[in-house]
Amino acid sequence: MSITVVILGAGKGTRMKSKKTKILHEIGGIPIYLHALNSTEGLVPSKTLFVTSRDNQALIESLQHFDVKADVVIQDEQLGTGDAVAVALQSLPELTGIVVVLYGDTPFVKTSTLTKLVRSVEQDVPFAFLGFETLHPGNYGRIKLDTEGYIQKITEAKDCNHVDSSLSLCNSGIFCSQVDVLTKLLPQISNENSSGEYYLTDIAHLASEQGIKTRLVQCDEHETLGINTRNDLAVAEHVFQSQMRNRFMSEGVTLIDPNSVYFSIDTKIAPDVVIEPNVKIGKEVSIDTGAVIHSFSYLEGCTISEGAQIGPFARIRASSEISKDAKVGNFVEVKASKLGARTKVSHLSYVGDASVGEETNIGAGTVFCNYDGVSKNKTVVGSQTFIGSNTLLIAPVEIGNEAFTAAGSVINQNVPDHSLGIARKRQKNLLNKAPNHKFRKG
Ligand code: UD1
Ligand code: CA
Repeated sequence: MSITVVILGAGKGTRMKSKKTKILHEIGGIPIYLHALNSTEGLVPSKTLFVTSRDNQALIESLQHFDVKADVVIQDEQLGTGDAVAVALQSLPELTGIVVVLYGDTPFVKTSTLTKLVRSVEQDVPFAFLGFETLHPGNYGRIKLDTEGYIQKITEAKDCNHVDSSLSLCNSGIFCSQVDVLTKLLPQISNENSSGEYYLTDIAHLASEQGIKTRLVQCDEHETLGINTRNDLAVAEHVFQSQMRNRFMSEGVTLIDPNSVYFSIDTKIAPDVVIEPNVKIGKEVSIDTGAVIHSFSYLEGCTISEGAQIGPFARIRASSEISKDAKVGNFVEVKASKLGARTKVSHLSYVGDASVGEETNIGAGTVFCNYDGVSKNKTVVGSQTFIGSNTLLIAPVEIGNEAFTAAGSVINQNVPDHSLGIARKRQKNLLNKAPNHKFRKG
């Protein structure tokens, strides 16, 4: 049976109070809609349709950026979820099989739950909604069952009377159907409700009135979190981070204070890494076994090799590689640079666009001056080299192996292997000319 996935993402998302399309807001570093889309991969759909509004260039660019294999369908006016599905199906008039509808604002549904939903649809029961029990039904549609346990009606929160409001069984929005029956019933949906919208959820009542069955498949409340407001977004991020923390700890990573460590969806961490409190890990980071990330460090786009020590208060930026047993200490920023094995940058330094060899020591206060106001230039430092404290390395420049730079030097010429580069004024002592500093004694 061929499966078509329809993702709805044309809604205005007004409750977010944002210039940005709601489903482009991020959880774990990727847009909300991408979480929903990723969960459908395991269904191996023959086609995915993504419904969006006209002029939503940002969404189209995002789909391209993430290389989403979906056909974009434009819903000209946002007349409701029922209309959005109708528009999607009209774009494929020959469609047969099963259609699975997900809302782009509902990120956490599991593939196994979707599979269960798809399997629950059969000849005699052509529709199925994914529902959940909750103590806080809030703005979710309420599900009423008939005496046989099929769905009789879904009432939107805005249209609930006193009795409906007390129902604790809610609609996740995720829906599965046989295409032919759905195509027949969709045009019968009306917009006579408090929002003046064509609700997809009205399918259940229409079906029930015509003796067509709609199954309820239940799942955990966490899977169905729909994001409408900034508050929902914060709750979703919290849920996502909790899942990541639990996963890493179960895989052998020590998180001393899990709730203060933040990950991205693509973070990779090997067992026996220790992460201290208050660490943020941005996109594209991998950390190998035995590494320690000390408190208040911020990492993105980098590879941290086995046994490396990072922080406290370190910032490692994109395209950086910290090799085995290397050390990046406090108040050090590293950008687009490679530090070789056992190399140390222990304090107060900026390392940008550089390649540093093995067992080199970069002294406190060293600055790799990589930017000349127009372009970024590269610095190469060899192995077993010693960069004296407060050296300025003006790129492009190369320092050889087993070389030295004197503390306080401004180095703008290459320093060959085994050589000392010194570029500062010689010290002069003025005998008996020290200023009177009696005041210190007083
Ligand atoms: C919807 C369900 C509600 C369910 C809840 C779960 C309906 C009528 N209601 O309510 O029963 O409990 O989700 O989170 O379906 N969209 C379009 N075109 C439109 C309108 C909406 O593409 O014309 C998209 C939105 O971008 C969004 C999704 O459909 O991704 C759901 O729309 P939304 O307005 O958020 O519905 P809810 O009020 O949350
Ligand atoms: Ca919603």
